[in-house]
Amino acid sequence: MDDYIKKNIRALRPSATLAINEKVKKLLQKGKKVYNFGFGQSPFPIPEKIVSVLKNNAHKKTYLPMQGLSELREAISKYLLKRTGVNYSKENIIITPGSKEAMLLMHIAFNGEIILPTSSWVSYQPQAQIAQNKVHWLETSSQNNWFPTSYELEKKIKSIGKKSYILIINSPNNPSGTTCNNLKEIADFAKKNNVKILSDEIYTDLSFDNNYNSISKFFPEGTFISGGLSKWCGAGGWRLGFFAVPKEMSNFLYALKTLASESYSTVNSPVQYAAVEAYTGDYSDYKNKVVTILKAVGNYVHNNLKSNKVLINSPQGAFYLMPEFLNSKFKTSSEMCDDILNKSGVALLPGSDFGFKSNKMLARLSYTDFDGNLFLKNLNGSKKLDNDLIKEYAPNVVEGIEKLAEWSKSL
Ligand SMILES: Cc1ncc(COP(=O)(O)O)c(C=O)c1O
Repeated sequence: MDDYIKKNIRALRPSATLAINEKVKKLLQKGKKVYNFGFGQSPFPIPEKIVSVLKNNAHKKTYLPMQGLSELREAISKYLLKRTGVNYSKENIIITPGSKEAMLLMHIAFNGEIILPTSSWVSYQPQAQIAQNKVHWLETSSQNNWFPTSYELEKKIKSIGKKSYILIINSPNNPSGTTCNNLKEIADFAKKNNVKILSDEIYTDLSFDNNYNSISKFFPEGTFISGGLSKWCGAGGWRLGFFAVPKEMSNFLYALKTLASESYSTVNSPVQYAAVEAYTGDYSDYKNKVVTILKAVGNYVHNNLKSNKVLINSPQGAFYLMPEFLNSKFKTSSEMCDDILNKSGVALLPGSDFGFKSNKMLARLSYTDFDGNLFLKNLNGSKKLDNDLIKEYAPNVVEGIEKLAEWSKSL
């Protein structure tokens, strides 16, 4: 009946993320209290100056260059040099409507297969499927912060054979909230084995650790970097991302440009001008405050949820934690998340959405259910960010964690 739809597209399923969001909506409509820890969006406002630049450029109506505004690419090139120590010149950067689109184009252009470590962001696998790139899952463990070791990579390559691969590394990670401690080891392995790397750096500026490292530093000739405004700047809806390609792979950039020109043409003009401000202005104070709040709330959740029944790695970045519930009576993590939502009102996403086997009782917890604007306004130098402040400005997080901890006692 539906064979007029391509087989690989037909096989795509809406993720459990959408299903949970639907359930949350229904519960809210019924007037039930829901702690929405399922949603992965920054709670903070976009800095005012950046918004005003957007307003001032609202009249810019012409198409900009397909690769993106030259000043913006230059600004991102400088930002990357500062962040990573690697020179991705402006000629090797393309501006995209969100980094998600850039990754889709990468999959379409790439002639090879994809290695995805668990845990992986929900869209990597479906995007590979859309582009008909075979995916190889690589299991990781909490002992190595949910990132692969070179031993695990070696074992994987031995079993699937030496081919052309892209390995996706996302640190700080969605969903685990951890950062990768063995970037050099992974880079050395990739270099030796013809594996290219996509370093998804969308959460880089939300690292709790000041000395953030990029894998590109150890393998500049083989690392693509994607990033954008969605997370650090709270501007997910603006849809502004970038993709940086090593100069050694300029042909790949040419392929991406061709795909861009035949699909979205160019990113909307006013947002590109606003993004120049975001990448050239000094937003260190804003970033510091945002990170201070996220780190404190993340630690609060960690400290108040972990137990002999709930294992969690410490929060190191982004705004997620990935608890593992022990002695579970459920068959799948999805069934477990349903039970949690029904009994405690806490919405979590099941680990199976992030590449884990469905019988692993993992879930993603996003600790962003608070008014970021209010919290930011009330974080001034004189006030210590202690539990009292968290209780005052992130009451839903505090209450939801209490309910979840209570639920976990029944395991
Ligand atoms: C790990 C990761 N990568 C990429 C993205 C996509 O970000 P955007 O397309 O808004 O740049 C997200 C957004 O949720 C994400 O969590």
